[in-house]
Amino acid sequence: MYNDVIKEMEKYAEENSVPIMQKRSMTFLCKFIKKNNIKRILEIGTAIGYSAINMALVDENIEIVSIERDQDKYIEAIKNIKKCNLDKRISLILGDALNLELEGKYDMIFIDAAKGQYLNFFNKYKENLVDDGFVISDNIEFHGHVENYDKIENRNLRQLVGKLIKYIEFLKENDEYETKFYKVGDGLAITYKKGEVDE
Ligand SMILES: C[S@@+](CC[C@H](N)C(=O)[O-])C[C@H]1O[C@@H](n2cnc3c(N)ncnc32)[C@H](O)[C@@H]1O
Repeated sequence: MYNDVIKEMEKYAEENSVPIMQKRSMTFLCKFIKKNNIKRILEIGTAIGYSAINMALVDENIEIVSIERDQDKYIEAIKNIKKCNLDKRISLILGDALNLELEGKYDMIFIDAAKGQYLNFFNKYKENLVDDGFVISDNIEFHGHVENYDKIENRNLRQLVGKLIKYIEFLKENDEYETKFYKVGDGLAITYKKGEVDE
């Protein structure tokens, strides 16, 4: 049943140009969640619920709160989550993640929303992370644009990629947090507090 819904979502995403997580990154992330026994996840950027559903299926005790600001995508995500009977474990919030105040702590925060806002998402939600938790940032290579920043001619894209590069520098030079970068899919960064996680 789940497999059919997941395939339908992949088709829908392709036909409607909805950017969902690449399959290889999805598999990588699901393995990471299992290996680290992650149970409470905050996702920023639900889109149609593809990654939320995949993450919830890793273990029946996983609970996810996911934020989406686009109403049409939010409605589509609700439908998909219901089809998988996961509505008790995946809670969706419709709104701009930068304007919300969430209580509670999460084992993992998955950032997969507006690329120019990663640093703001990180700073806003870091207090919602347990001490030995992880922040995962997707699309950290941004389709090769990060590496080829100097060749970008479009002003808006340059600005966007520039912000992502600042976020990467922030992660690399951080005194409090350690980050590992993975060349999987569109690039993933895994960040955790120094001294809190056994490597
Ligand atoms: C790459 S898609 C998410 C894909 C999803 N995580 C998946 O793999 O199935 C990014 C989503 O983030 C949403 N988004 C962007 N900025 C946001 C914000 N500030 N607050 C909430 N949602 C946001 C967009 O509307 C879009 O649907």
